Amino acid sequence: MARLIISADGPEKFAIWKEAFAKAAPDLTVCSWYAPETHLLPSDYVLVWKPEADHYAALAQAKAILCTGAGVDHLLQHPHFPVHVPLVRMGGEQTAHLMADYVTWAAIGLLRDARTWAIQQNQHQWVYNGIVRTSAEIRIGVMGLGHLGAHVATHLARVGFQVAGWKRSAASVPNVQVYVGQEALPEFLATTDILVNLLPSTPQTRGLVTYEFLKNLPHGAGFINVGRGEHVVQADLLQALDTGLLCGAVLDVVTPEPLPEQSPLWGHPRVTVTPHVASEASAYKQAEYVAQAIEQLEQGETPALLCNPHTGY
Ligand code: OXD
Repeated sequence: MARLIISADGPEKFAIWKEAFAKAAPDLTVCSWYAPETHLLPSDYVLVWKPEADHYAALAQAKAILCTGAGVDHLLQHPHFPVHVPLVRMGGEQTAHLMADYVTWAAIGLLRDARTWAIQQNQHQWVYNGIVRTSAEIRIGVMGLGHLGAHVATHLARVGFQVAGWKRSAASVPNVQVYVGQEALPEFLATTDILVNLLPSTPQTRGLVTYEFLKNLPHGAGFINVGRGEHVVQADLLQALDTGLLCGAVLDVVTPEPLPEQSPLWGHPRVTVTPHVASEASAYKQAEYVAQAIEQLEQGETPALLCNPHTGY
């Protein structure tokens, strides 16, 4: 019987994970990384989020590592991450659906200028903003059409947006116009009213979103970041917002996290910040997904979201 050792979220959250796994996968033996009697064996699976620095040496002994995040850049960037150990990213239906809901909420908020409503409510002001446009009139572009990106794009098309996506390699997503490769990027951006970043964080994508990059969008476009804070040069984003190049931004990810108290993003009238919550599935759903991936690995199968350490996703 497989054994899963849980390091994710520290010792405090172990009881929650244990309960979730007891319900979702009663046959799986679950132990806390932090219990003094736990010693990792080569047949063990480990569930992590951001392991502590001194965990990495032991992780090299695991049979596979499963991450509670859809993005594993923080693991791969660690100099001692054992790249020879199979690494599975978080997925599953609820994770993808939560992300699709979040991006839909953010996109509609940008199109109706909900940020101004929030400010006005704070100031007890009853002011009509006069914006009359619907999702059908908005071209939304999703950068990154992987597991989550493709799901988000399909969902947005169902809601009624005109949807395009940009990807490094060819892909086909129903009702989504797909732009492929670097050369297609300017055209993709030029026809995007709301840009959604769902790229993986890799050396090629970090720092991609600069003022120059945003200048390719139609003037007054919106920006939603659900990828990584590191994709964005924050000073350039602020410049784009302050000059009206962007009408607004919804940021679920920032650098660093948590966002420092003194960051100008907090109080910016054109920015909505959420605390990296876009797609965190319930412990039960994550446990179900993890148990299924372990089952596949035990059967010698390849889980769909097995990470390729060379591409970083
Ligand atoms: C992530 C996640 O990887 O929230 O950022 O899943």
